[in-house]
Amino acid sequence: MNFETLPGFRSFLPDKCFIRNYIFDSWRSSAQSYNFQEYDAPTLEPLELYKEKSGDEIVNQLFNFTDRGDREVALRPEMTPSLARLVGEKANSLKRPVKWFSVGEQFRYERPQKGRLRSFYQFNVDILGEAGVGADAELIACLIDSLCAFGLDSKDFKVRLSDRELWVRFLKYWGIQDAALPSVLSIMDRIEKMDEETALEQLKEHFLAGTEAFVQSVKALFKVKTVSELKAFFISLPEKEGQVVDFSNRIEELGVLFSTLQAMGLEDYIAVDFKIVRGLAYYTGFVFEAFEATGKGRALAGGGRYDNLIEKLSGNSMEAVGFAMGDVTLLDLLKDKAKVPEYKPSADIAFIFSGESEAACALEDAHGLRREGYRVEYPIKKMAFSKQFKDAGQKGIRFAFIYGSEELSEKKVKLKDFKSGEEILIERTHAVMLKAIKGLL
Ligand code: HAM
Repeated sequence: MNFETLPGFRSFLPDKCFIRNYIFDSWRSSAQSYNFQEYDAPTLEPLELYKEKSGDEIVNQLFNFTDRGDREVALRPEMTPSLARLVGEKANSLKRPVKWFSVGEQFRYERPQKGRLRSFYQFNVDILGEAGVGADAELIACLIDSLCAFGLDSKDFKVRLSDRELWVRFLKYWGIQDAALPSVLSIMDRIEKMDEETALEQLKEHFLAGTEAFVQSVKALFKVKTVSELKAFFISLPEKEGQVVDFSNRIEELGVLFSTLQAMGLEDYIAVDFKIVRGLAYYTGFVFEAFEATGKGRALAGGGRYDNLIEKLSGNSMEAVGFAMGDVTLLDLLKDKAKVPEYKPSADIAFIFSGESEAACALEDAHGLRREGYRVEYPIKKMAFSKQFKDAGQKGIRFAFIYGSEELSEKKVKLKDFKSGEEILIERTHAVMLKAIKGLL
């Protein structure tokens, strides 16, 4: 029988685990530098949590089944609905704004391909209970800084910023009714990946004879790169009979968001880009995605404002904005830019001894240093004295305590630095050995 890893799932041998932990540690310290608090939620949730709330795209990718208690359940494809539920339940007792983050595994039944797997890790960062654009700015800044923490800069990645609310108003201007908005937004989200014929066919269902004019207008909107170009674009839209759609307050808000990010010195990382619509159904305001600077490849991260989701899930109204970064595309980029740290598994100290009677002393001292938090290698299997030296060298261990019968008879032990070749003789007491090694490591 052949037990292979399932498609889109990964095993993490120690070298891969080392890199995964490096990414997780960096994510955690970036979030903590903004004073976000870590939370977690169940990996398995009621299926209902994702139906309608996340949108068709994710619902079609769920790993779901009926459990033995006849419950419809799903492995979580994203954190946002769980977060909205847990914050919603505690809405009245939590101090606002709630600033929370999580690092956890997500599951989506997608076609495995570059940048897309069926199990992946996400770093989710969200601010809940704050309506002001300052929260959007804080999150975009945190996203940028989290990527910079890996040694990347504005030459390596960009955050593309758009506005769902402006998109909705734009579609209403073109005569789209509320009920049709989700499906038109979903077409706009996928349009870059479609061929022109399919796109036109799908758009015609909604725009009928106005399709060609709409497409021309969208092409112009897609060219917009700055807030002032955006302003000019919306001012230039011809007035339509019976249509009074006001775009100005959203453009102003976008201006405030930009100047806040500018004040943080982050303007080089950001570009207006209305090709960003976001596939998830719950977004209500500014939306953004981070990409490799050339724009190639899949998104490194995505997020935005979702002011209605918490109320829908819990009945308690609370504004929210957040993003999630995935480990798969991030690692591809880090490899591309040679920013992956080298895996060097190594203990701090080896214990080397000449014979049986010395072994007991070495074991006692090794145990003491392990309890102090040092990574200590001790030969589990009997090995010749010379073989122990060779073994420590092969493992790349820098220091060793060496136990010979002569030294031990004087209650002493040797401390060797493999790099310099130096050896010193010290007293064999826990305090002296600890002090000696503390000075070196
Ligand atoms: P999302 O855009 O669906 O947003 O996912 C965010 C990131 O997760 C993507 O940019 C990508 O890096 C990674 N990702 C998604 N699917 C896969 C996959 N199949 N394989 C590998 N990586 C993947 C959300 O999940 C929202 N819940 C983000 C959010 C948080 N919005 C507000 N708060």
